[in-house]
Amino acid sequence: APQVPDILSPEFAADPYAAYRVLREHAPLIWHEATQSYIISRYEDVERVFKGKDGEFTTDNYTWQVEPVHGKTILSLSGREHAVRRALVVPAFRGGDLQRKFLPVIERNSRELIDTFRHTGSADLVADYATRFPINVIVDMLGLDKADHTRFHRWYTSVIAFLGNLSGDPEVIAAGRRTRVEFAAYMLPIIRERRDNLGDDLLSTLCAAEVDGVKMSDEDIKAFCSLLLAAGGETTDKAIASIFANLLLHREQLAAVWEDRGLIARAFAETLRYTPPVHMIMRQSAAEVALSGGTVPAGATLTCLIGAANRDDSRYREPDRFDIFRDDLTTATAFSAAADHLAFSLGRHFCVGALLAKAEVEIGVGQLLDAMPDVRLADGLEPVEHGVFTRGPQSLPVRFTPVTG
Ligand code: HEM
Repeated sequence: APQVPDILSPEFAADPYAAYRVLREHAPLIWHEATQSYIISRYEDVERVFKGKDGEFTTDNYTWQVEPVHGKTILSLSGREHAVRRALVVPAFRGGDLQRKFLPVIERNSRELIDTFRHTGSADLVADYATRFPINVIVDMLGLDKADHTRFHRWYTSVIAFLGNLSGDPEVIAAGRRTRVEFAAYMLPIIRERRDNLGDDLLSTLCAAEVDGVKMSDEDIKAFCSLLLAAGGETTDKAIASIFANLLLHREQLAAVWEDRGLIARAFAETLRYTPPVHMIMRQSAAEVALSGGTVPAGATLTCLIGAANRDDSRYREPDRFDIFRDDLTTATAFSAAADHLAFSLGRHFCVGALLAKAEVEIGVGQLLDAMPDVRLADGLEPVEHGVFTRGPQSLPVRFTPVTG
């Protein structure tokens, strides 16, 4: 069998897709010393673990992966406690609240950003749009002061660095912990004040939420808002950059989307399959579990390679081809974001913000296309993907003829 590339090596970062193929075919279950975890890469195995029955797998890894920077959130909870805590926040991200309150917020924030470059004929869709839009939306949804955007972006950058800190750089760890302290100092007084003046915003909804007599404490709300910066910011940011990169590299599909905006939903689902923002997440096994490559003992950590599973040829035909028209991928509807890829995970931790992300991408991409009808990659520049845990184009310089009038 070919040599199995290490997931922490530079070769892997340069082209994980080639490595994923080797892993899926020759080493579907391998022990990885550096992360002290078993790596799995086949669709059926990753799906099996995500959909695990009650108590089969936990997400204890988040206590060290995200708690130092965010505090305790639903990510690291399991069982009944997770179910109740999750039920407190889920309604705010779907149905009436999403339609009535947040679609206008999404439209406004996208337009404001596009207005900063629409007359210039050029932009970097990563720096000028993708990295800003989802964060601006969250700040606005929460009913926080827009004047604080700069701070939010700084916190966001430090959180992202913390989560992607594979080498354990102490500077990055210290900055992440400082952000937690700064964020708490900023957020807690606002939460206390908001409790006495409830409005129509997301923060008020979280203050008022109650399930089975349980409410969120100020600390819970602060931690959840902090999680939103990373969970809702970096992921959607990468999804928007990737959908544009994929379409710009497949111009006939871009032309089809231009003609029929209803196809953005397909392009989004296919982008999440082909180039998911989150490439790997972890689980802990509560009992011994049999997977296609062998048996994993109880108490083990599993690294689930979403990016590999999404390109498994026993699940998708020609998985390495970007094709928004493929018929082996269901597209999410307006009421459900559950397309059959693994980018939002599955089961009890399925992404709370999937519908919000879908709305952001559909509105954002539509507005961008309107503002840049002949958008093209700036001369000779191919987008370069960056990142291992999360991944997306590092920059996306484009040119276009400004629309007049
Ligand atoms: C969970 C991906 C957008 C909030 C997750 C998980 C993934 C994911 C893979 C599961 C983690 C696990 O199972 O361990 C994505 C992607 C997005 C996106 C690819 C964009 C395309 C958003 C947005 C929000 C959000 C916009 C909210 C503003 C959350 C929350 C959880 C979560 C709160 C935790 C759910 C739980 O633990 O029960 N997301 N996400 N996400 N996501 Fe997203």
